[in-house]
Amino acid sequence: MSTKGLSEKEIARLKEDAVKYIIPHFASNAELAKDPKIFERGEGCFVYDVHGRKYFDSFATLLTTVCGHCRPEVTKAVTEQMERLEFFPNYVDSFTVPLIQLARKLVEIMPGDLSVSFFVNSGSEANETALKMARQYHIERGQRTRFKFIARRDSYHATTLGGGAVTGLKWFREYFEPLMPGCLFVSAARDCDRPKGVSSRAYTAQLLKEIEALIRDEGAESIAGFIMDPLPGSNTGYPLPPEGYLQGVRDLCDKHGILLIFDEVQTGFGKTGKWFFCDHYKVVPDIMTIGKGFTGGFIPLGAAVTTPKVAQVFQQGPGHEFRSGSTYGGHTVACAATLANIGIIERENLVENARVMGAYIRKRIETMHNPLIDKVSGVGLLLAVTLKADAKVGTWIRQWCWENGMILRNNGNILVLAPSLIITKKEADFMLDLIERALAGAAKQFKL
Ligand SMILES: Cc1ncc(COP(=O)(O)O)c(C=O)c1O
Repeated sequence: MSTKGLSEKEIARLKEDAVKYIIPHFASNAELAKDPKIFERGEGCFVYDVHGRKYFDSFATLLTTVCGHCRPEVTKAVTEQMERLEFFPNYVDSFTVPLIQLARKLVEIMPGDLSVSFFVNSGSEANETALKMARQYHIERGQRTRFKFIARRDSYHATTLGGGAVTGLKWFREYFEPLMPGCLFVSAARDCDRPKGVSSRAYTAQLLKEIEALIRDEGAESIAGFIMDPLPGSNTGYPLPPEGYLQGVRDLCDKHGILLIFDEVQTGFGKTGKWFFCDHYKVVPDIMTIGKGFTGGFIPLGAAVTTPKVAQVFQQGPGHEFRSGSTYGGHTVACAATLANIGIIERENLVENARVMGAYIRKRIETMHNPLIDKVSGVGLLLAVTLKADAKVGTWIRQWCWENGMILRNNGNILVLAPSLIITKKEADFMLDLIERALAGAAKQFKL
């Protein structure tokens, strides 16, 4: 299939209308002023713009397309579902077949006893749901005073008012305050921030002390939950936690009756080389939120998945039901697409491919010996390269990659390498060769 064959005049009109009639999410007026990008076709790890130019997508279409673009298996599942029943809502006492089949599939792949799902339309909504679930859980158990949440500095959970309230990054919060009251912040807990001479375990002990002091000062009986992105995302370059940190937080939450929420919207579904990041540490939260790769980018879907212990308080009879819902949460066709997406991850062993290719990519970057590279962080196919340079160098590299056929996400001086899990060695080499040339070009351009 080729590009749609739009004339130059039609393309110019599309660009004009895009800028005039649409406010993009996280818009950049500087970029929009240069040239809006309009995509028209996708195939595997590649996308094509309206000019017919081909790009390798090293950011997997905002970290969604775990199985690549336009998979016929998903198209078939979606078409079949569309032809039978495109939608019936999951409300009151009604379900659809793919919704139940998907819930059953999640029981198989989710860590520990996370097995009861509340389906929504996005990762943001999944986090809103988790916060509400934690609050109502305590109310149902007679602990009405537990309404606060502990979250971490520099975390990202959503731009909605609830998810924004537990998001630590200032940029997402500052125009919208006051946000939800009772959100308390503790250190980001990154092993890379550990002071020289302090062991990872000792650093963890220090961080846990900080959390316990906060719980003591606020009163455990006032705290509903602790929400964290166990591996923080592309905004901060996937910094790993120090040793024993996740288990330490789990233990503190158990000790003080606080529900632990892991936001694996970005990290779930194989990207780290295990189904979920917390599988690396064998720590299971009380609620996990999922989105993005869950549905592989095909149709929006998210979920807050919890344990029978939490779910049973909402299932104990009339009057205790979880008070939340939306029209399209658990959309029938989205569930069919998601089941097909998970089927591909399983059949093609993509979790293992993420581990193997992630290790390969990391090794190649570590042996590049470019003076601009400060460090490589992350795990599996969620990797980031921090530059020994400022944001304008990162932006120059992104632009260079774009002009040379690759989509690259940079957050200032952090370059993100998080391609689809289907990436082959040949594609990884293509991506890395471009990065290597871009780094060399930047060193020359900025005389570094
Ligand atoms: C860690 C994390 N949580 C939540 C979200 C929100 O998900 P969505 O944008 O799909 O609503 C994101 C999105 O980037 C995320 O990275």
